[in-house]
Amino acid sequence: MIAPLARTAARVAARPAFARSLGAAAASRGVHTLPDLPYDYNALEPYIAEEIMKLHHQKHHQTYVTGLNAAEEAYSKGPSVQEAIKLQSALKFNGGGHINHSLFWKNLAPNSGDGGKLTDGVLKDTIERDFGSFDALKKEMNTKTAAIQGSGWGWLGYNQATKKLEVVTTPNQDPLLSHVPILGIDIWEHAFYLQYKNVKPDYLNAIWNVINFKEAESRLKAVL
Ligand SMILES: [Fe+2]
Repeated sequence: MIAPLARTAARVAARPAFARSLGAAAASRGVHTLPDLPYDYNALEPYIAEEIMKLHHQKHHQTYVTGLNAAEEAYSKGPSVQEAIKLQSALKFNGGGHINHSLFWKNLAPNSGDGGKLTDGVLKDTIERDFGSFDALKKEMNTKTAAIQGSGWGWLGYNQATKKLEVVTTPNQDPLLSHVPILGIDIWEHAFYLQYKNVKPDYLNAIWNVINFKEAESRLKAVL
């Protein structure tokens, strides 16, 4: 018979290293929380309706935060290898959802303020260098984002190998890991359906009026 302390030690030793480090990281940083929006729920109207913003932030993003905390807590309890493998999909989905939405809120801004205004500077110059023009970027990003089958995200990302801006997409709530995210567009139905129904191109055209290019430029400057 194994003494309780020895059983616990054996169980901890059997846990994968990533699970142990995740548990330790979660314990050290505490639980994840829903970040406040940097503007009011109605501030992106008429391009994104208040009702969408409220549900998207308070319900959908909160669900990812809750799911991420639950997955990390389960990891911290020393799951078996089989249980840890099961938890990976929950961690990827909810962790990705939390990362993506935290980034998304900040890359939007009211049109009465910074939203929709690409001013002269490094971002504009780099877009023109890599796409030819802002309109060409917008067209490529809208086309590739609209073509995502099911739910996902369209991104303007910085490729650190080629040192270029590129348009890429990720499925579901997968975060962008191949590039540094500069701008993300949520193309899950919860992001637009209440206002734009099934007409994705209308949502994709409208969202550029509330894109926070200042935030995008600061993300680009950080990696140049
Ligand atoms: Fe979303």
